[in-house]
Amino acid sequence: MLFGQKVPIGLDIGAGTLKVAQVKDRRDGYELDVFDFLPLPPELIVDGSVIDSLRLVDAIKELIRKAKIKNKNVAISISGHSSVIVKMITVPEMTEEELEESIKFEAEQYVPFNIDDVNIDFQIIGPREEPGQMDVVLVAVKKDTINEYITVVKEAGLNPVIVDVDVFALENVYEVNYPIEPGKNVALIDIGASSIKMNILKGGMPSFTRDTPVGTNLLTEALQREFNLTFEVSEKLLRGETVENVSEEEAEQVVLTASEEIFSEITRSIDYFRTSMSEQDVSEFVISGGGALVKKLPEMFNERFGKQVEVIDPFKNISISKKLDEDYIRDLAPLGAVAIGLALRRIGDR
Ligand SMILES: Nc1ncnc2c1ncn2[C@@H]1O[C@H](COP(=O)(O)OP(=O)(O)OP(=O)(O)O)[C@@H](O)[C@H]1O
Ligand SMILES: [Mg+2]
Repeated sequence: MLFGQKVPIGLDIGAGTLKVAQVKDRRDGYELDVFDFLPLPPELIVDGSVIDSLRLVDAIKELIRKAKIKNKNVAISISGHSSVIVKMITVPEMTEEELEESIKFEAEQYVPFNIDDVNIDFQIIGPREEPGQMDVVLVAVKKDTINEYITVVKEAGLNPVIVDVDVFALENVYEVNYPIEPGKNVALIDIGASSIKMNILKGGMPSFTRDTPVGTNLLTEALQREFNLTFEVSEKLLRGETVENVSEEEAEQVVLTASEEIFSEITRSIDYFRTSMSEQDVSEFVISGGGALVKKLPEMFNERFGKQVEVIDPFKNISISKKLDEDYIRDLAPLGAVAIGLALRRIGDR
């Protein structure tokens, strides 16, 4: 019983889709035993901020009911460039306890907000080549944003036990499913409705992260404009469903043109990584989020960047419960990446 309570459900409150996942620890490994989602209208969450909390609370309740979830403990995550700061910093070598004491002081010079307005966390990456120095990932999240999300989740009758950050939930689901390849730089890229979350792993460790406020909404809006459609009908087109009076080819062309903004943001991040890493390149892209499901987008990625592009598979090392519809879940897997990463967190983990 106690063991069960340590396992939270992962609740990914995205701007375009709410998702829940639950992953059980079985003797022979992880097993997904809940996965469900609910599309959200685009005006509830804007720029990572909750605009309409009443409707969001109702949507969460509806999804919990629909997914028949009894577990109240949830892990949620926050994203967005205006609420989350992730920085790779170098500090004098010290123990975790010592850093715990001094991190606020260290953080002050890197965080563009008042240090008392953020919650700070860190992860020691390891010693640097220069003796006496070590690399640390510093994470600062605005308390206001955390409180906003915690309030919504509590009002939906749930108990938030873990607050994570999208780029780390993404890393978590990747680590559980893919082997670490030393010397290889892998870009995890989650393309959501309103933002792109990037985490470039260097030998399995985070070395660059960035949240950019563009996402598939750009594509939906372009389809709306071009063919004079509603948001909902444009979303259908994006998913590759047939829509009256619009041919597949026409729609693809519009999506391709509109994707250019997404691609140039990604290029900018990769270039920044390359310059700050003495010309090291990224060898592989692993894409996730609803964007990875947009028809032909993985192919467009491949063509645009000429790199190995893989759509994330969260189920290499997580089996899917017999009570779920395996084919359906595999088809939607990229959409669940963050929720599954959250569902892999355990209360008490660092
Ligand atoms: N089955 C599907 N096929 C194609 N595209 C899809 C599908 N489901 C969702 N999408 C696209 O993905 C978008 C949502 O992606 P996702 O759920 O990853 O975003 P989000 O997490 O809600 O947003 P953000 O991460 O920006 O907060 C939808 O707006 C839609 O355009
Ligand atoms: Mg998302």
